[in-house]
Amino acid sequence: MPSFFGLHFGNTNMCLAMHKESATDVLANARGDRVTPSVIAFVDESEKLVGMDAKQRMVRNPASAVTNIKDRISNNSEPELNHLESKPQTKVNGKKNNKGDFEINGYISQYKAEDFLTILFSNMKEIAYSSSHEDVCPTVVTVPLSFTKHQRELVKKAVTEAGFELLRIISEPSAAALAYNIGQDSNDISSKCLVFRMGGTSLDVTILQVSNGMYSVLSSIQKKDFGGHQVTNCIVNYCASEFERKYKVDIKENKRALMKLRAVAEQFKHVAHGTTNEKCQVDSFYDGIDLDVNISQTRFNFLIRDTLVQCLDPIHEALSSASLSISDINSVILCGGCCKIPQLQEIISNTFSSADILYSIRPDEVIAVGAAKQATLISQSIDEEDYCINLLSQDLSLKLTGFSNSREELLLCSKGTLIPTVVTQSFTVTQDSNLKVEIYEGSLDSKEESAKLLAVLNMPNLPIGDIFFSFHIRSDGSLFVVCKDCSSKELGSTTVIPPQPQGCS
Ligand SMILES: Nc1ncnc2c1ncn2[C@@H]1O[C@H](COP(=O)(O)OP(=O)(O)OP(=O)(O)O)[C@@H](O)[C@H]1O
Ligand SMILES: [Mg+2]
Repeated sequence: MPSFFGLHFGNTNMCLAMHKESATDVLANARGDRVTPSVIAFVDESEKLVGMDAKQRMVRNPASAVTNIKDRISNNSEPELNHLESKPQTKVNGKKNNKGDFEINGYISQYKAEDFLTILFSNMKEIAYSSSHEDVCPTVVTVPLSFTKHQRELVKKAVTEAGFELLRIISEPSAAALAYNIGQDSNDISSKCLVFRMGGTSLDVTILQVSNGMYSVLSSIQKKDFGGHQVTNCIVNYCASEFERKYKVDIKENKRALMKLRAVAEQFKHVAHGTTNEKCQVDSFYDGIDLDVNISQTRFNFLIRDTLVQCLDPIHEALSSASLSISDINSVILCGGCCKIPQLQEIISNTFSSADILYSIRPDEVIAVGAAKQATLISQSIDEEDYCINLLSQDLSLKLTGFSNSREELLLCSKGTLIPTVVTQSFTVTQDSNLKVEIYEGSLDSKEESAKLLAVLNMPNLPIGDIFFSFHIRSDGSLFVVCKDCSSKELGSTTVIPPQPQGCS
C-alpha cells in the first residue's frame, strides 16, 4: 500500500502529513518537531541550514537567513522591509539588476525566490523519505486561495524539483474542510463553513458553501501582516518596558537584544497557557544584565487580548461580503498556530455560539492533514478511472402528481449512461397542494418488469410558477436532488437513494 502526502507551507512554518493504510499522520522532522520553520540560513557559500537550526542561527546572524519565502513568491515582488527588527530578512539588492537578487552574508546570491522554495521543499522531501522509505512521494500541496496561476506554477516547479510527485495543488481552506470531512458525510449535504486561519504573519477568513460534497467560496478576506508576530510583540513590549522601568535602558534601540527577546517571547507565548506563572528570561541580555520578567497567566491574557479581539474584524467583513450573519454559519474551523491560544478559541466560540467550532486536529497541522486526505482520494479516483467505467445499472424514471406538465411519467436517465451526471428538469406549479415526485428504478412504460419505487418527494409548499429540479447521479449510483425556483433560490434538497450497485466494464 503506497503512502500519500499532504504538504502545507506558510511564511513561518511547513507541515507534512502522510496517509498510509487508512490513517493520516503528521510526520515529525529529525528534531522530532511536527512543524518545520520556513527559514534557510547560509553558513557559507556551500553550506546551508533549513528549519529550526536556521531559525536559531538567524538570532545570531540575521543577515545569513532568508525568511518570508511564501511572500517572496508573490509575483516575485519583495515584501516590504518594514519589520526589519521583528522579521529579520536578508537585504535585497534590487539595484544591481532587475531580478531582485538576494544579498546573503554580504554576497549577491544567484537564487530566485522559487529556488528558496525548492530548498525548503527538499528538506520536507527528506522527511517524507525517512518515514516512508519510498522514492516516489505522491503529494497534494496547498496554497492560499489568492495565489495566481503564475504563483501556482512556481510552486509546482519547486515541489517537482524537490522530488515530490505532484498530484494537485488545492486551496488551504478546502484542505482544512476536508480534514474534518465537511460535506463528505451523506447526511451533511448542504452547509456553510467558515475557515479561520491565523498563522505567524497573516490571517485569512474564508466562507465555504458546502453542497453535496463540493466546496464553493462565498467570500474570502486576507489580512497581510497580522498574525502570531503581533501576539509576540505584546510580550516583547511588556518585557522591554519592565526592563526600562527597572534599569532605565530602552533596549528597543539595540537590534541584537531585541532579536534575543523576540526568540524568548515566542517560546514564552507557546507555553504560557499551560502554566500559571511563567518567566521570560534572557541571560546577559543587555550590558551583562539578565532579563527576568514574571508574567502570570492573567497578565498574559490581558496583554494579548486587544490583539486577539482584532481578529473578529475580518470575520465580520467576510460575513458581510457574503451577505450572511453569524447564525448562518454551521461550522468554524480553526487553522494556523495562533489558534492554539485558548483565549482565541474562546473569543471565536463565544462569537459563533450556534456553530461547531473545530480544532481537535492541531490548528497548524490541519491543512496538511486535509491535503494528505485529498492525495488519497485522487489516487483512488485515478485507480477507478483506470479499471472501471461507471455506468447507470437501471433506467431512472419519474412520476409526477399535481404539476401542470403534459406528461405525468418520464424517463430521467437511461440505463448505461456514464455517471456521475446531472439531469435538470423544469416543472410548472399552478396549485400549491398535493404535489409529488416519485422516483423509480426501471422504466415506467415497460410491460415485462415492474419498476421499483425508490423514493417519494412530497412538496406541499412550492411557489406557483416554474421550478427546476437538478438530479445529480453520483458515481456510486446514489442520487442527490436540488429544487430551485426561477430566481435560482434553493427550495430544498435531499439525497434520495441509498448507494446501489454500479456498472463496471
Ligand atoms: N502553542 C502555541 N501558542 C501560541 N502561538 C503558537 C503556538 N504554536 C504556534 N504558535 C504561533 O503560530 C504561528 C505560526 O503559525 P503557522 O505554523 O500556522 O504559520 P504559517 O502557516 O507559516 O502562517 P503564515 O504564513 O501566516 O506565517 C507563530 O506565530 C507561532 O508562534
Ligand atoms: Mg500554517
